[in-house]
Amino acid sequence: METLLLRPNPRSIDRAASLVINGQVVALPTETVYGLFADATRREATDRIFLAKGRPQDNPLIVHISDMNMLKSIADDIPREAFRLADEFWPGPLTMILKKKDVICDKVTAGLDTVGIRMSSDPVLMEVIRKSAKPLRGPSANRSGRPSPTDANTVLSDMDGRIPLILDGGECRIGVESTVVSLVSPQPVLFRPGYITSRQISRVLGKEVILSKGITEELSSDDKVLSPGLKHRHYAPAAEVTIVNGPFEKYKCLVEGEGAVALCFDEYAPFLMCKTVCYGKKDDPRDQASKLFSALRTLDEIGADKVYAMMPDTEGIGLAIYNRLLRAAAFRVVNV
Ligand code: TXA
Ligand code: MG
Repeated sequence: METLLLRPNPRSIDRAASLVINGQVVALPTETVYGLFADATRREATDRIFLAKGRPQDNPLIVHISDMNMLKSIADDIPREAFRLADEFWPGPLTMILKKKDVICDKVTAGLDTVGIRMSSDPVLMEVIRKSAKPLRGPSANRSGRPSPTDANTVLSDMDGRIPLILDGGECRIGVESTVVSLVSPQPVLFRPGYITSRQISRVLGKEVILSKGITEELSSDDKVLSPGLKHRHYAPAAEVTIVNGPFEKYKCLVEGEGAVALCFDEYAPFLMCKTVCYGKKDDPRDQASKLFSALRTLDEIGADKVYAMMPDTEGIGLAIYNRLLRAAAFRVVNV
């Protein structure tokens, strides 16, 4: 299959919508990361996504919508909280887990009776959803296990020959995937931290948000897995990554002594006598979010085999950075 990479314009957007209507998969930008999109009401279309990603079949996919009527057509027993969060954060980087209606095929939700739903603020994606008039399932556009792509050329390097079309909307503004919150039980549960923080959600709902265990700790085999994405190793570069928590002098000794590559904040690179890959400014989690995934891919490109990553802040958006980095590090953290 030939993979076209086109700039978004009315013609290429029409082309994407008709591919979707015909049950095909297209890669489109969102404000978080690029996604692979297909009709969420058709089983063959989902199969094509799983095939393109090479993804484990037990991982449910997010469904993307363009308006609130579409929400009502795919979710059941929608709680008041969902409308409050939608008012505040949609369109935007928030996914809500709600009870699903039967129009959403079981394959999308991996057999769960719930569905993750998000309204993205990306104008190209919104237009394709409107034109095709379908809710679109959309996992990140990487091959399974690779970091999520934040630009169209990275999508092409993972998906060349596997899908017919990629629309190039430039670099994603945010760079880490949406916050995932479940509203299925009275107490909201955070399944995946993102740009919208649990504190922001709490403030809107006037309720505490419970953090799911898999966010900062590795789930053991007897933990009940509520969100299958929590258990898969994700975002993994080929290198062995370890997160280092401690003062810079000790970090420097460790990484230089071991001849490893430093995955560090921009400010520190000039002071390290080893190979460095930067992932943003020290006190700026937004900047780190927009650079982390491409930094992880760079580690592979330079053939790094041992990497020590500087520990990010874990507050606010920092929790999203720490969560992605922990997965890349297979939960290895050392204190120095
Ligand atoms: O920013 C994003 O959310 C991107 C862009 C493309 O929209 N999409 C994305 O989708 O990251 P994906 O499929 O790579 O991640 C879906 C996450 C997984 O962690 C999955 O386990 C969780 O959401 N999830 C989806 N549906 C769920 C459900 N019904 N119950 C629990 N977790 C669910
Ligand atoms: Mg993903």
